[in-house]
Amino acid sequence: MMNLVSVLENLVGELEEGLGKAEDAQALESLRVDILGRKGRLAQIMSRLPSLPPDERPAVGLAANSVKERCNALFEERRKILAAARETATLTGFDPTLPGLAPRRGSLHPVTLITEEICGIFSVMGFDVAAGPEVENDYYNFEALNMPPEHPARDMQDTLYITDKVLLRTHTSPVQARAMTTRRPPLSIIVPGKVYRRDSDLTHTPMFHQVEGLMVDKGISMAHLRGVLTSFVRSVFGVRTRVRFRPSFFPFTEPSAEVDISCRLCEGKGERRGEACRVCKGTGWVEILGCGMVDPAVFAAVDYPENVSGFAFGLGVERVAMLKYGIGDLRMFFENDLRFLRQFA
Ligand code: DAH
Repeated sequence: MMNLVSVLENLVGELEEGLGKAEDAQALESLRVDILGRKGRLAQIMSRLPSLPPDERPAVGLAANSVKERCNALFEERRKILAAARETATLTGFDPTLPGLAPRRGSLHPVTLITEEICGIFSVMGFDVAAGPEVENDYYNFEALNMPPEHPARDMQDTLYITDKVLLRTHTSPVQARAMTTRRPPLSIIVPGKVYRRDSDLTHTPMFHQVEGLMVDKGISMAHLRGVLTSFVRSVFGVRTRVRFRPSFFPFTEPSAEVDISCRLCEGKGERRGEACRVCKGTGWVEILGCGMVDPAVFAAVDYPENVSGFAFGLGVERVAMLKYGIGDLRMFFENDLRFLRQFA
């Protein structure tokens, strides 16, 4: 019996020695399993208890309880010491007076920048910013804009259809029809947004951005259109920019025009360093938007009175950004190369 009790007592000494060498929580835990675990040293010794004569068992049991208690206390003590050391180490490794690591500041995407600039210019002129759905009905995208189902003008746009009657809008013009359906004249709105076409090459992407404009009131004429757009173009591209209106065709406007501005690269001369200018291809002019007087058929579709008139226009945001910043490749806007985007910070 004495033998078993002293074996038990030795465990305490052994543990103390082991604890002195345990430098972290993991070493501590494996030591605990080794000595106090379910199959540990203490349990192994105790499994010999039944083989002892009954009158010797109580003394061994008593010794085992005492050893177990002392072992637990030793573990707890060591655990606290290690935890305190860990805390000091973290605290001393951290200097709160050092300057922080500031994250690099992001910047707005050039398309966002130009969109905001355009909307800002028109807001100052009294236009409200409006929006409409990108998933649109055939009715608003085409029919209400004077393009009935078999109208050949629908061929001008490669449409992404969702069902027979539902599509991704091919331009922001449907928002004209939506706005006029819910609001009575006078009305002046500007509509920024994404548009979609089945088109993808060097100068076309399946999604791009447009801004639509619409002004309706009694007595609105082409002169107002010209005044508003000239003022807009000069705000974006500078006061010396020249503007020309070229006759064109859109189903939803009559008359219709395309607006050209004098080329910024060659300053309208058409040539640079003795060669034809690559931006305006030698013409001195670049096209910037489509516009016109709202066709009476569009007013009829939205039930507007006959005594109002109005103008509308639509422009491509990427195109304006390319001309303004001198960007030669449309794909730059969609690749999100940080080296490109950071230049707009
Ligand atoms: N919706 C036309 C397009 O996507 C652009 C446009 C032209 C809009 C003339 C207009 C307009 O409002 O009057 O090409």
